[in-house]
Amino acid sequence: MSSSPKRVRVRHFARAKQEGIRITGITSYDFLTAGVFDEAGVDFLLIGDSAANVVFGYDSTVPVTVDELIPLCRGVAKAASRALVVADLPFGSYEASADEALHTAIRFMKESGVHAVKLEGGVRSRDHISRIVEAGIPVMGHVGFTPQSEHGLGGHVVQGRGSGAEALMEDALAVQEAGAFAVVIEMVPQSIARQVSEALTIPTIGIGAGPGTDGQILVWSDLAGLNTDRLPRFVKQYASLRDVLHGAVSQWRDEVESGAFPGPEHSFDED
Ligand code: KIV
Repeated sequence: MSSSPKRVRVRHFARAKQEGIRITGITSYDFLTAGVFDEAGVDFLLIGDSAANVVFGYDSTVPVTVDELIPLCRGVAKAASRALVVADLPFGSYEASADEALHTAIRFMKESGVHAVKLEGGVRSRDHISRIVEAGIPVMGHVGFTPQSEHGLGGHVVQGRGSGAEALMEDALAVQEAGAFAVVIEMVPQSIARQVSEALTIPTIGIGAGPGTDGQILVWSDLAGLNTDRLPRFVKQYASLRDVLHGAVSQWRDEVESGAFPGPEHSFDED
């Protein structure tokens, strides 16, 4: 929906689904990159808990906290003039009860200026989602492979295969019934993701779920090639940012060491 409205709202997600227009989302963790993604016409920016890996260098998304994510959300929300900005509720900040989920969602809304929140889980998160939605906060769901449950799921394993397809459908329907405006479907067979997308009235946003979902999301540093180690099969790399940055910084270091930088054009005179 890139030529649409001044500010993307949740109603535009519903319209995009009705009109068969694909929705784009990308993760974002800071002011400068958020500005680039917003200008590029991406429909929503997600401050994903993948910040755990990308920003903080943790091994999984489990350790990242609300206090670590809120400052990142502030930078992204400030930069985005068109995109809808969505904050991920991190592990341990919402599972205990619907009240806890609402409390955390309110913190993100008040302290960072995001427009919506995302949380993981289908049937198990139904009450949490409805409590947040009832308070007037838009919620994006997340089913299929849910990275916060990595250990419970036995690692990075494709979900929804065989008898898991039924459970996946139940999860997606639960998220919709709870009032979410969209749902991320991660790492499931493409045929199952298509079936779920056809069954739902809210848009599905795929990551590792094939082309049959209503939209797509990727982690920005994967698609831009800043992160080059162990990329999942579902990532397509559109640039080699790591090489570009490495080249620029190496050249700068060489020039400092040789005395070529700074030159007269980068230096001040007395008058
Ligand atoms: O945290 C994240 O990056 C996500 C994905 C859906 C991209 O949840």
